[in-house]
Amino acid sequence: MRADMDHTLRPLSAHRCTAPLSGSVAVPGDKSISHRALMFAGLAVGETVITGLLEGEDVLRTAAAMRALGAEMTREGGVWRVAGRGIGGLREPDDVLDMGNSGTAARLLCGILATHDFHSVMTGDASLRRRPMRRVTDPLAQSGASFVGREGGRLPLSIRGARDAMPLDYVLPVPSAQVKSAVLLAGLNARGWTRVEEPEATRDHTERMLRHFGAEVTVEPKGRGRIASVRGQPELVAADVSVPGDPSSAAFPLVAAAVVPGSRVTVRGVSLNEARTGLFTTLQEMGAGLTIENRRVEGGEDVGDITVVQGELRGIDVPAGRAPSMIDEYPVLAVAASSARGVTRMHGLGELRVKESDRLVATAAMLTGNGVKVEIEGDTLIVHGQGTPAGGGLVATHMDHRIAMSAVVLGLVTAAPVRIDDSGFISTSFPGFIELMQGLGATIR
Ligand code: S3P
Repeated sequence: MRADMDHTLRPLSAHRCTAPLSGSVAVPGDKSISHRALMFAGLAVGETVITGLLEGEDVLRTAAAMRALGAEMTREGGVWRVAGRGIGGLREPDDVLDMGNSGTAARLLCGILATHDFHSVMTGDASLRRRPMRRVTDPLAQSGASFVGREGGRLPLSIRGARDAMPLDYVLPVPSAQVKSAVLLAGLNARGWTRVEEPEATRDHTERMLRHFGAEVTVEPKGRGRIASVRGQPELVAADVSVPGDPSSAAFPLVAAAVVPGSRVTVRGVSLNEARTGLFTTLQEMGAGLTIENRRVEGGEDVGDITVVQGELRGIDVPAGRAPSMIDEYPVLAVAASSARGVTRMHGLGELRVKESDRLVATAAMLTGNGVKVEIEGDTLIVHGQGTPAGGGLVATHMDHRIAMSAVVLGLVTAAPVRIDDSGFISTSFPGFIELMQGLGATIR
């Protein structure tokens, strides 16, 4: 059943904290790594065991799609076992693949399907059906695949994979790990080397995990970006994956700790992949007491325990070059900025317009509706810090989990409660978010 068809609105209100937030928690597994673990395991020969998988709706869509394509999966006690089909070994699905709310699932899968010689149809919920897909289908068509979508190339999309796929050599026009990954994944079943040049470095989970599964992947630095290449038609071999905590989910309790007076919160086992840690750097620059302990490598990824102690925050300029390393964190950073002293300018946010909602507009509306002065100038978001924002507004989440969770954090410091029209989409990335925040001391009704 399609997510938006059986969706009933779940309104919430978040209330000003009367006591500090405190505690030590773990957040669910990283969403980017979880999607990739299921997909790559489904393309590998043998059985992959995945622990710590994010069991949010987005990732469960990937699991359902990979099953429909012939991968076998079982889940027992939170451990997933995937028996893969080998490169090029997926089978034509009997029915439409519904990717729900997940852009990552849809776009990465387009890459895989582009070089499988069969027909498939992909759709998603109302949010995903509005999002641009040409950014992947245009380059993927060069491999010999054909795509027929709605106006603007949007979902539902009919895909005919290439029989004898051409390897691609592509320069990304936008800094997007999803597009980079889609092209690299198509290259797995093409002859020869597929090469993707990115003008700015984006998250590299695909490159790392493909290597982990035995593919030949090279990465060379180029300016502020990189060139990633994969040799086609390798034998991917099952390799166990332990998924670290998602830094994009850790962002919510950590920013809450940074703004609620007297708070101290630790999130354990968070991925510290340097393509994901821009928010932590930014919070430190703003004056938050953020420390990282117990750094270690787990399952090929750097992880650590992050503690934030509330401190007085000041407004800063966040450079455009940092955007790829914190692209999903701007809504909650904007909440931190609204209780900082002075003005925060966040540059280079063009890509926020094509997320689960137009996140630039949705973030600005969330804040202005709660008494914070905000401006959008081109791709820059400017937030005037207020100390204690008024609150009292109703936030429209536009089917966007990160707007919903950011609004909850905002409500913990506003004078009047912040109401949220629908918290239902939070479970796409962070099941248990409300309970986790309540456990730290937040009042959410
Ligand atoms: C993701 C990449 C980012 C990010 C998304 C997950 C990924 O999107 O916003 O939540 O897993 O590759 P873009 O690559 O489109 O920036």
